[in-house]
Amino acid sequence: MSKPIIFSTRVLPEPVMDRLKAAFDLRCNPADLPLSKVQIMEGIQAAEGMISMLSDTIDREVLEAGRSLKIVANYAVGYNNIDLEAAKARQIAVTNTPGVLTETTADLTWVLLMAIARRICEAHQWVQSGKWTGWAPTELMGVDVFGKTLGLIGMGRIGKAVARRAAGFKMNIVYFSRHALPKAEETALGVRSLPLSELLEASDYVSLHLPLNDASRHLIDQDALRRMKPGAFLINTSRGPIVDEKALCQALAENWIAGAGLDVFEAEPRISPELLRLKNVVTLPHIGSASLETRVKMGFMVMENLLTAFQGSIVPNRVI
Ligand code: DGY
Repeated sequence: MSKPIIFSTRVLPEPVMDRLKAAFDLRCNPADLPLSKVQIMEGIQAAEGMISMLSDTIDREVLEAGRSLKIVANYAVGYNNIDLEAAKARQIAVTNTPGVLTETTADLTWVLLMAIARRICEAHQWVQSGKWTGWAPTELMGVDVFGKTLGLIGMGRIGKAVARRAAGFKMNIVYFSRHALPKAEETALGVRSLPLSELLEASDYVSLHLPLNDASRHLIDQDALRRMKPGAFLINTSRGPIVDEKALCQALAENWIAGAGLDVFEAEPRISPELLRLKNVVTLPHIGSASLETRVKMGFMVMENLLTAFQGSIVPNRVI
């Protein structure tokens, strides 16, 4: 029996590629570079399944080019890059990779939080530049994390994993979510629900952990940034467009807030030039899930989603 044709827009980690090649007639973009929309449309012409990245825009036009397409398996937990309505109309299944990247993304949130609070990138550059002349009582002073107030916006898997880490730092943890957690879970995590405006006003660190959709786009706008404390930091490991990047640049330049740790940007891979000039920012290239173990697990999950779809079984991790 012939194997289903799968098109992958990028090369995935080797163990994943090996399994994909064994199970499918795999066609893959050989370059370690994103494809243009036209190239994706060409790539999926004969494909029955596709593996897409969060950086690929899978809109109606793209989906229409995949005449035999039965499934789009996104290599990410977020799926805001896919037009779900268009996929539904063409009866194309869409899957994601929830759960396996939770702890890795929570770890990276913590990396950013600690790095911006303790000025780690500035300190590293200082040492590397050869300018360090020895210990000094007032050099590169940051601020404490221990015992401060952490405001989590979004309390899904990743928000909770960040809260568990914060407990070790004896932080006062508050959260905002459209769906408050059951009381028992709040108690177990040591978190307290607050309205968004109160959370912004109370927190020393505000960390974003919600999906991008119409309700969350620019949730952190000029008004939200003005509500934050002048000494507060914003951390974003979710999706760039949740923050109005122009407003954030102004907030950082004019010290409405103390700093930001960002793994995601409004128009990736483009970043506002002002952000790159500011000292009170740590910027990372969207590496929230980028540990070898996790990227392999994500790939195996994509594989499972595809296999079940072609076996006619129940497809796990289906978002539609
Ligand atoms: C995701 O999977 O949505 C993450 O952003 C990947 O880093």
